[in-house]
Amino acid sequence: MSPQTQQSRAFVAAGLRTAAGCLIHARRITALGLPAIAAFTLLGGCPPAPPGEADLPSFANGTDKTNASASYVGSAACKQCHSDIATIYANHSHAHAITTIRGAAPTFPNAAQTGGVPNPPDGFSWANISYVIGGYSKAARFINQNGEFLTTGLTSVLTQWNLPFDPNGANAEFASFLPAATGATPLDFNTFAPRTTGPVRRTDENPLSQDNRPGIEGAWFENGAQCEACHGPGGNHFFTAAGRVVIDRSRIFVDPSGDESCRQCHAYPFGDTSGEIAARDGFIAPLQQASELSASGAHARFSCTTCHDPHHSIVADRGSAIRNECGACHSTQNMAGHRGAVFERGDYRETLTCESCHMPFAVKDASSATAAVAGPAGRIGDTRSHIFRLSVEAADHTAFLTDDGGSVRRDPDGLARITVDYVCLRCHNGQGNVFSLTVARAAEIAGRVHDFPE
Ligand code: HEC
Ligand code: HEC
Ligand code: HEC
Ligand code: HEC
Ligand code: HEC
Ligand code: HEC
Ligand code: HEC
Repeated sequence: MSPQTQQSRAFVAAGLRTAAGCLIHARRITALGLPAIAAFTLLGGCPPAPPGEADLPSFANGTDKTNASASYVGSAACKQCHSDIATIYANHSHAHAITTIRGAAPTFPNAAQTGGVPNPPDGFSWANISYVIGGYSKAARFINQNGEFLTTGLTSVLTQWNLPFDPNGANAEFASFLPAATGATPLDFNTFAPRTTGPVRRTDENPLSQDNRPGIEGAWFENGAQCEACHGPGGNHFFTAAGRVVIDRSRIFVDPSGDESCRQCHAYPFGDTSGEIAARDGFIAPLQQASELSASGAHARFSCTTCHDPHHSIVADRGSAIRNECGACHSTQNMAGHRGAVFERGDYRETLTCESCHMPFAVKDASSATAAVAGPAGRIGDTRSHIFRLSVEAADHTAFLTDDGGSVRRDPDGLARITVDYVCLRCHNGQGNVFSLTVARAAEIAGRVHDFPE
């Protein structure tokens, strides 16, 4: 049995005590019921190392010892027995991270709310498109039949479809995408690897291109981050012997720490462990939650699944997606003078939570607020940050980022703090129902907000 699997059993049995001594849930046991727990408790012994492991192609799960030599079978096979999880998971962004286009617009479970991706860029038809990247919870980008991105630089039209995002005032509309990219822009490994299951990089020995599209720098087994992206190839987990279906639990990988799954995709480049947090356009670049977390101080040692349920989506079901809210551990922390406060700007309303300040939209995937929404100094991207620590210095994003703006500045301990222009000035900027603050004034108050009377 792998150390990780053993750790998961201990978690389930005992729960997890924080430094502060609060009992938190390693899993939402009440929501899961007994059979799922039994799956962990009744685990068998350590399987012998299978032969030929060194000869495996370098799949993302090549480090996964428990199912080495197994083949991918696809999420439809898993669904036959795990229909409960598969049904929930069908609404996760993971399942829709990349979509094959077959002459018509892609379909998403939430298209009624977002409007989906109704059209390809101006001058193109769906017949010109092979894949759409995103489009479910974040902006869509388009891949041509050659396997290359449609960039604004090459096509001279807007080639990114933004979804509406109320916190920063973005509308569903086309926007510029890579205006400087005037040559062919291949679909590179670092872009498709976190959006697919079983990705392989194109190399001289392995000259693969998905569907033989030369612009795609490698290949994958299944679209989206599906079951086997985290659990490893499942071909040895079930088989038929003497006419009966046999399940081998030891031949499916469970990754409670997320080191072999979450952290590989939620870092850039794919699998990066340097902790470097890339930035561009005055915001943190997307899909780097593992690196952000490493700069977050006390939370740095948490697994993603300390807070997240691995199968439930924040977009589709926020209530089930977070298994430990802030209050589960910070039960004595107050609301920093903002308990019950409601921020309003036009039709947008937000009741303040801990996340309103500690997980501000300091990350930009596709859209950010204009001055008409954020005022002259406020900054609002479209994705919450996982740095959690807030600055109380009279400084703005130019101090948060390195001089060239290419990454987040970290102190000698590797930690970072988000400046008040992303935090307080997201609301206190003159555009909503609250008074304006300058960077200097916000910083001065920030140092004592948790001392405000409740
Ligand atoms: C033929 C039925 C069947 C199929 C197909 C199947 N499973 Fe399972 N799986 C089971 C059973 C039965 C268990 C035992 C645990 C339980 O009661 O849920 C199990 C357990 C698991 C576990 C928990 C392992 C542990 O350490 O306790 C995981 C994870 C899992 N399956 C994932 C998958 C994935 C991913 C696929 C697709 C690649 C898949 N399963 C396909 C029947 C199946
Ligand atoms: C993003 C990573 C990820 C993906 C994708 C994923 N799982 Fe899991 N799964 C986990 C983790 C981590 C656990 C360990 C338990 C926990 O933290 O809740 C787990 C636990 C399980 C278990 C055993 C415990 C339980 O909750 O019943 C089963 C069965 C399972 N997964 C099946 C699936 C199936 C089927 C799919 C595809 C529909 C899938 N998983 C997709 C990460 C993932
Ligand atoms: C195979 C790559 C991959 C793995 C493994 C992976 N993710 Fe993701 N994840 C992504 C991508 C890509 C997105 C963005 C999808 C989009 O919005 O287009 C995403 C989005 C998310 C989201 C926001 C969207 C939603 O629907 O909730 C959460 C939360 C998340 N991941 C958590 C996790 C956790 C926790 C794990 C490990 C248990 C994990 N991810 C493992 C690739 C991955
Ligand atoms: C301390 C708790 C905590 C930890 C640890 C944590 N998250 Fe989160 N995460 C959250 C909360 C809370 C949200 C926001 C939910 C909301 O929007 O209401 C969130 C949101 C997200 C989102 C969606 C962000 C957006 O705005 O689109 C992604 C993606 C994500 N988490 C991935 C991860 C990954 C990957 C890890 C591990 C490297 C991780 N998280 C670790 C608490 C945590
Ligand atoms: C699993 C338990 C747990 C959860 C969930 C959790 N925290 Fe923490 N957090 C801790 C512990 C433990 C510390 C370190 C001791 C302390 O400061 O209380 C900490 C520290 C912090 C710090 C100080 C960071 C530093 O190291 O300088 C902030 C800010 C913070 N948490 C905010 C949050 C917010 C906001 C949420 C919800 C999105 C959250 N935490 C969820 C356990 C948790
Ligand atoms: C109005 C914005 C705001 C809200 C809302 C807010 N915080 Fe804070 N919090 C801050 C600022 C600013 C700091 C930095 C103070 C400092 O470093 O002196 C901070 C510091 C912290 C710290 C680390 C310092 C300490 O006091 O130990 C923790 C932990 C924390 N907050 C947790 C929370 C939790 C949990 C919630 C929700 C119950 C919350 N905060 C709500 C702004 C806020
Ligand atoms: C999500 C929006 C939002 C964020 C972020 C935010 N505030 Fe506020 N703030 C409000 C609202 C709404 C009120 C209540 C206004 C009212 O009731 O008139 C408020 C009230 C206040 C007050 C008056 C409190 C009192 O007791 O009367 C101060 C001071 C303040 N905020 C400072 C800050 C600082 C400093 C930060 C950053 C650390 C911050 N706010 C972050 C929305 C926000």
